[in-house]
Amino acid sequence: MLSIVGIRKTFNPGSVNERLALAGLSLHLQAGDVVTVIGGNGAGKSTLLNMVAGVHPVDEGRIIIENQAVEHLPEHIRASYIGRVFQDPMMGTAASMTIEENLAMAVRRGSTRKLRRGIRSKDRQYFCEQLELLGLGLEDRLTTRVGLLSGGQRQALTLLMATLVPPKLLLLDEHTAALDPSTAQKVLELTEKMIKKHKLTTLMVTHNMEDALRIGNRTIMMHEGRIIFDLKGEQRKNTRIPDLLEMFKKASGRSMANDRMLLAN
Ligand SMILES: Nc1ncnc2c1ncn2[C@@H]1O[C@H](COP(=O)(O)OP(=O)(O)OP(=O)(O)O)[C@@H](O)[C@H]1O
Ligand SMILES: [Mg+2]
Repeated sequence: MLSIVGIRKTFNPGSVNERLALAGLSLHLQAGDVVTVIGGNGAGKSTLLNMVAGVHPVDEGRIIIENQAVEHLPEHIRASYIGRVFQDPMMGTAASMTIEENLAMAVRRGSTRKLRRGIRSKDRQYFCEQLELLGLGLEDRLTTRVGLLSGGQRQALTLLMATLVPPKLLLLDEHTAALDPSTAQKVLELTEKMIKKHKLTTLMVTHNMEDALRIGNRTIMMHEGRIIFDLKGEQRKNTRIPDLLEMFKKASGRSMANDRMLLAN
């Protein structure tokens, strides 16, 4: 479904700010795989997702989604089959537009034919049904500007928009990290619901190791632009958080003790 083959990325090459973000990383996902991605700060997790989404061009390597090479396609073309939710609740929705306008935009994803059509009552009914599933009362606020919503409400809406037309691939980058614990919990439950409902192939970056082991069917850990381990099946089932810490230490030669992961709620 998704094949990433030997991707490399160096930011600011040749300058004092040169940073190797991805060091020839390869990863293959089957359709329906839900892979959690963990690793220390600067490991390259966000860069990996950004490269798949087309935010940055690759220096080297290939990205293949359902047999189509996408590494040279611009971000807006890839957006028609990739759903994304970022860490920052301010991204992913348009603040000055209403909830229904944002949802109408999401429905049009990948379809130019519907571009000029206005919002019809049938659309509104569908939006209401979908918003009800979030359980946040947003179905009564279709004409509220998104800029007036709370971070959690906005993140839930972004998630709905990212999955309203089921994408081939869902990319989540610490999408609950900026929310208070109970809202984060709720958005995470919604995420799992959406993934199950649409059987979405997903890459989810998290700094919460409990979530990393609980959600999905596979966990990869990154360090210095590489995958240092890849857990699935029985091995993953038998792995506990202290095991992860130990594996990280062995593979990277340093302890994760000061890392944000350990401070995760
Ligand atoms: N746009 C950019 N310009 C320059 N350097 C960048 C850029 N994006 C990432 N980097 C660098 O690339 C490396 C990998 O960063 P990345 O953001 O992918 O890490 P991460 O694993 O997501 O970390 P975090 O857990 O802090 O989010 C870091 O050294 C970072 O400073
Ligand atoms: Mg990141």
